[in-house]
Amino acid sequence: MRPVLLLLASLGLAAAENGIDAWLRYAALPCDVRKSASVPARIVALNGTQTSPVYTAGQELHKGIQGILHKDLPVTNTSVNGSSITIGTVNAFASTGHVLPELDLTGDGFWLSIKNDSVQIAGQNERGALYGTFQYLSMLAQGNFTEVTYESNPSAPIRWVNQWDNMDDTGTHGSIERGYAGPSIFFAEGLIVEDLTRVSQYARLMASIGLNGIIVNNVNANVNLLNSTNMAGLGRIADAMRPWGVRMGISLNFDSPRTLGKLTTADPLDQGVIEWWDDIATKLHGHVPDFAGVLVKANSESQPGPLTYNRTLADGANLFARAIKPHGDAIVMFRAFVYDNTINETNWKADRANAAVDFFRDLDGKFDDNVIVQIKYGPIDFQVREPVSPLFAHLEQTGTVIELQVTQEYLGQQCHLVYLPPLWKTILNFDMKVDGQPSLVRDIVSGERFNQKLAGYAAVVNVGTDKSWLGSHLAMSNFYAYGRLAWNPTSDDVAILEDWTRLTFGSDRTIIDTITKMSMESWPAHENYTGNLGIQSLTDITGPHYGPKPQSQDGNGWGQWTRADAKSIGMDRTVWNGTGYSGQYPPEVASMFENIESTPDDLLLWFHHVPYTQQLKSGKTVIQHFYDAHYDGAAVAQTFPEQWKAVKGLVDAERYDEVAFRLEYQAGHALVWRDAINDFYFNMSSIKDEQGRVGNHPWRIEAEDMTLDGYTIIRVDPFETASGFHAIRTTSNTTAGTATAKLDERFEAGTYDIAVNYFDVKGGRASYELFLNGKSLGTWLGNHEDKLGYTASPYPDGHSATRIYFRGVEAAKGDVLKIVGQPDGGEQAPLDYVSVLPSGTID
Ligand SMILES: *[C@@H]1O[C@H](CO)[C@@H](O)[C@H](O)[C@H]1NC(C)=O
Ligand SMILES: *[C@@H]1O[C@H](CO)[C@@H](O)[C@H](O)[C@H]1NC(C)=O
Ligand SMILES: *[C@@H]1O[C@H](CO)[C@@H](O)[C@H](O)[C@H]1NC(C)=O
Ligand SMILES: *[C@@H]1O[C@H](CO)[C@@H](O)[C@H](O)[C@H]1NC(C)=O
Ligand SMILES: *[C@@H]1O[C@H](CO)[C@@H](O)[C@H](O)[C@H]1NC(C)=O
Ligand SMILES: *[C@@H]1O[C@H](CO)[C@@H](O)[C@H](O)[C@H]1NC(C)=O
Ligand SMILES: *[C@@H]1O[C@H](CO)[C@@H](O)[C@H](O)[C@H]1NC(C)=O
Ligand SMILES: *[C@@H]1O[C@H](CO)[C@@H](O)[C@H](O)[C@H]1NC(C)=O
Ligand SMILES: *[C@@H]1O[C@H](CO)[C@@H](O)[C@H](O)[C@H]1NC(C)=O
Ligand SMILES: *[C@@H]1O[C@H](CO)[C@@H](O)[C@H](O)[C@H]1NC(C)=O
Ligand SMILES: *[C@@H]1O[C@H](CO)[C@@H](O)[C@H](O)[C@H]1NC(C)=O
Ligand SMILES: *[C@@H]1O[C@H](CO)[C@@H](O)[C@H](O)[C@H]1NC(C)=O
Repeated sequence: MRPVLLLLASLGLAAAENGIDAWLRYAALPCDVRKSASVPARIVALNGTQTSPVYTAGQELHKGIQGILHKDLPVTNTSVNGSSITIGTVNAFASTGHVLPELDLTGDGFWLSIKNDSVQIAGQNERGALYGTFQYLSMLAQGNFTEVTYESNPSAPIRWVNQWDNMDDTGTHGSIERGYAGPSIFFAEGLIVEDLTRVSQYARLMASIGLNGIIVNNVNANVNLLNSTNMAGLGRIADAMRPWGVRMGISLNFDSPRTLGKLTTADPLDQGVIEWWDDIATKLHGHVPDFAGVLVKANSESQPGPLTYNRTLADGANLFARAIKPHGDAIVMFRAFVYDNTINETNWKADRANAAVDFFRDLDGKFDDNVIVQIKYGPIDFQVREPVSPLFAHLEQTGTVIELQVTQEYLGQQCHLVYLPPLWKTILNFDMKVDGQPSLVRDIVSGERFNQKLAGYAAVVNVGTDKSWLGSHLAMSNFYAYGRLAWNPTSDDVAILEDWTRLTFGSDRTIIDTITKMSMESWPAHENYTGNLGIQSLTDITGPHYGPKPQSQDGNGWGQWTRADAKSIGMDRTVWNGTGYSGQYPPEVASMFENIESTPDDLLLWFHHVPYTQQLKSGKTVIQHFYDAHYDGAAVAQTFPEQWKAVKGLVDAERYDEVAFRLEYQAGHALVWRDAINDFYFNMSSIKDEQGRVGNHPWRIEAEDMTLDGYTIIRVDPFETASGFHAIRTTSNTTAGTATAKLDERFEAGTYDIAVNYFDVKGGRASYELFLNGKSLGTWLGNHEDKLGYTASPYPDGHSATRIYFRGVEAAKGDVLKIVGQPDGGEQAPLDYVSVLPSGTID
């Protein structure tokens, strides 16, 4: 096996890869580079205990150098003079007689010195030594043999991952709330899985980017996690991650004393409840001696909490803080995502965005010192653009953690390429100007601005059992960048991406340029074709959070309102006339958002309710900007499949094809978004697109206008997610239907790309065949539920709407186009329209 692989590598042919090693592939460098490269003769890891991150570092380095340079270095644990790579804590270096320079390392920091035939990697602690080793490996894997000497410290002590894995009941395989890559790697059948291979692989990925903690279960926590079987299982998870320096914590269900402990109350001040939690904490500590802490979501989205018992949120947080206090340095992460989801839109001043500050402002100083408040980056919920949560400006005596999402809950669920660091950096670089002083969010969450010992980062990552971890190879750049930014939030987002690309796909300039260009265009494009000007993501917020459904924002208690009517749109969050939200920011920032003139266009509708004809700083009206942005963003997405073709043959076929499939899908779904949002607001405002595009589709043939046999016309709900608001489905659940149309005088003889828009609903795998003049152009299956990992919909709607292309077809007027749809299961081969497109046209 091995010689064959080596031969392939030396010929420059890329062997198939499934993504399991992500950016830690340690792919062989080209032969000439390998030959001229020199590394020291041996590896010395100054700790022989197998659970030590220093030991792990030695093993990892051995494996890496073997892959990258085909060199098999011996690994020892005793210090030597002469050619070696030495890894250890600063103390271990000192105690083995090595003299290091004066260092200024803080928790988890490292010193890396590469000089000739001596490489020294010294960690402030064992974890730091492992992080330094991964940095060295990253250089080697990128073919970087520069001599460097530097120290590196993390920006903040808390750099965690949150997983929203459900420990579902017996008979199920742990689902993941907002996870898009298969079931849990931690849970199955109501238990912790036996084989924890993937868990330690996950810890390895985390360690390689400096992440040091994880909450393994969903914030909507299952109480059975605390029974004796599962506590022992948690101990096994912690054991699997410990060699990688990753500490484990869990989410708790506030109501556990009642539901699991059979007490009559969960009141945080009740003595029985206090003792119950003390006992749980002691048991947890028994299984997990280096327990990281607990994450608590309370009094949110119908979850119980201290408010249920007329206690403050601080009372609730401190209950846990005191229970874990005797057992080491574990912490309580209390989520600020507390709000009422039954507010009333008829009240102009009601505003969910106000909730976090309203609930937490007066609690500053009332939390124990091992409590930290975890705050989502924006006041609503991981939208494509939000202003920074104003709560960051209010907690000066309480540590804060910023909550980000790597899993793309509202941003395309990994089926759309969206490189997130540019979004994160707009948040982290925002200046809150607290007390008139510079107060960048990144300096608040590093603990620096308010002098907090506990501070940092948490990201909901939600990897699953899929070999690619996130379901999409390109989405892994977000995970990688998250760790890099938590370590150093001033890192450049393009530089991070280029490192990731070299490590993941190789150093070919074409690969780097292609991925960089697409990725850097992806967030602005996604914002453009989903929800722009600060209106939020405009997805289906009461459903899967995936496809377009702008009407779901309004008319319910969730408070993600747009207040769109026939004349105007946007939330009036001013102090003078609206919800008062803008006044939650420190004065300078508040006055910027209070006034329309000084509010940036991209947040206009977040802060102001304006007529569709309101003029933006660009000179366009709000509604024309909507139309243009949706066309522009969708047009950018159309270029992605074409851009990706540049790397064909430069990356392995397996990953090339998987990425190509998703980019092609995204291009089609971006058009669904574009048309749905534009049609919706055109319908609502009756204001025409100046460029005449909205509602005009010169190259389409609507399915409902075709000659149907065994097909029936249906109205699609929501209406805007079908072209012409209608579609067709088979009349029977078992017998095929046929839709036929003759090409009319629009179609001169020539070469066309034929696009078929259909609905790939969950519940069956309908099959389709497209014919021109009786000749088959191809077949396909409605099987996206097996391939995309997203929250599939059982209905024809904005989630299931999709497109497939048949390119370069010779056609002319009079030709007969026919689609045969064979239903399967509940999937009635639904069809929306066919576009017969002259080359270069998008419609
Ligand atoms: C070094 O490793 C050997 C086994 O290879 C072990 O016996 C010894 O205890 C280790 N020494 C230290 C200091 O860890
Ligand atoms: C070696 O690693 C073990 C496990 O992490 C740790 O307990 C021990 O203190 C380490 N020894 C030294 C000398 O650093
Ligand atoms: C390394 O060199 C130093 C100074 O020359 C010497 O004191 C030490 O014993 C040597 N260590 C080993 C393991 O040879
Ligand atoms: C590098 O190593 C060579 C041979 O071992 C030695 O002659 C040279 O002085 C070293 N250079 C540095 C900068 O240490
Ligand atoms: C090599 O790595 C060092 C340390 O990370 C970095 O400063 C330098 O820019 C890298 N060189 C190249 C050519 O990427
Ligand atoms: C703990 O809960 C799981 C279900 O989540 C169950 O299978 C197991 O038997 C329980 N163990 C005990 C000791 O109750
Ligand atoms: C909380 O206070 C309200 C109003 O003061 C009261 O009606 C309710 O019974 C109290 N609930 C509990 C659990 O004490
Ligand atoms: C919202 O408030 C209006 C006006 O006070 C009232 O008529 C309506 O019933 C309320 N809606 C809900 C769902 O409470
Ligand atoms: C002020 O608020 C009212 C609702 O209370 C709203 O109808 C009106 O449009 C707002 N005025 C402006 C100028 O935004
Ligand atoms: C987003 O839309 C705006 C307005 O139409 C346009 O100026 C910009 O180029 C677009 N950017 C992308 C990446 O789609
Ligand atoms: C479009 O808007 C009009 C009102 O302007 C409404 O009557 C009609 O039902 C809407 N169309 C659809 C398909 O909902
Ligand atoms: C056919 O499929 C539809 C959609 O899933 C379902 O609602 C309906 O009950 C099915 N009809 C029969 C006869 O099975």
